Amino acid sequence: MKNGYELFVRPLLFSLDPETAHHVTVRLLGRAAHFDLALRALRLFQPSSKPKTLFGLSFPNPIGLAAGLDKNGVALPAWAALGFGFIEIGTVTAKAQLGNPKPRIFRLPEQQALINRLGFNNDGADAIAHRLAALRESGRWPAVPVGINIGKSRVTPLQQATEDYLYSFRMVRDFADYITLNVSSPNTPGLRELQEPEKLSELLYAIGNEAGTAPKPLVVKISPEVSGTQLKAILAVCEENGVSGIIATNTTLDHSPIPPQLDQAGGLSGAPLRDKSTALVREIAAQCKIPVIASGGIFDAQSAREKFQAGALLIQLYSGLVYRGPQLLREIMDRL
Ligand SMILES: Cc1cc2nc3c(=O)[nH]c(=O)nc-3n(C[C@H](O)[C@H](O)[C@H](O)COP(=O)(O)O)c2cc1C
Repeated sequence: MKNGYELFVRPLLFSLDPETAHHVTVRLLGRAAHFDLALRALRLFQPSSKPKTLFGLSFPNPIGLAAGLDKNGVALPAWAALGFGFIEIGTVTAKAQLGNPKPRIFRLPEQQALINRLGFNNDGADAIAHRLAALRESGRWPAVPVGINIGKSRVTPLQQATEDYLYSFRMVRDFADYITLNVSSPNTPGLRELQEPEKLSELLYAIGNEAGTAPKPLVVKISPEVSGTQLKAILAVCEENGVSGIIATNTTLDHSPIPPQLDQAGGLSGAPLRDKSTALVREIAAQCKIPVIASGGIFDAQSAREKFQAGALLIQLYSGLVYRGPQLLREIMDRL
């Protein structure tokens, strides 16, 4: 049976082009974040709580908002009101950037999937830090953990990536309960090369060195395309550098489940990513002790359960939220 979002809201949003629908939704939630009455209405969707402690942080439930939905951190109180157990904003880059030419988000409803090639469109670390400072001052900072996902600015050459990440890290760390290093988006040329052990090691070392006396948990977000010896090497580097968590996975470049006439360049997310990401979660959990946050194709309680059974401790939603709406949180929590 369809839920209220699927019956009434999704048809409206899907009558708009995907990026406009995204923009309208985030803007409305950003507005709602300023009004107690609106936040109270959003709280009607809240799932039951099932607290969990991880990297020294308390999560009211294990379902998080995945990076990319609120790239600029404009609606934090609204996501918390909807019942997310944690919120990851970003990807934030050192320099503000417009991203790739439009259109750059594509819906594939038959496949319950999205393809995007946004390319880290965001307001940049300075503006986002400023916005987060204002939110904190307003007293509306959410009560759930907030992760800030950082990535490389497009104009920065790969050889200077570390400096670029360090800039964003310094700007936003005071607002983050944890920091995610995104080395896996397929839409910034060369970014995934930062998953190579030597480069990843350099980046993790530099960030770790910078962390000072009150280090924030560091999380690394990896692509579903890593496997075998490369995965082993990534995990070893993460362990050596005291990484607190791994997010598996980002979007995939494997478009084989997509009919050629519907295909687009970019990262594929949603149902076609489900098994691939679950398999990687299982492999990581079997190979090391670093906690895993699962992301990829979570659309219902069964797909969420699979991730936990594979060894994930937390999960994150993106495409599932686009197709199933905020009631998905309660559906998952009630049936887990
Ligand atoms: C439109 C769109 C934009 C995204 N932007 C980001 C991003 O900026 N940073 C990031 O780490 N992941 C980003 N992602 C990846 C998601 O966070 C998530 O890892 C991925 O979509 C798999 O989860 P899903 O199948 O539930 O969508 C984006 C995904 C989509 C669909």
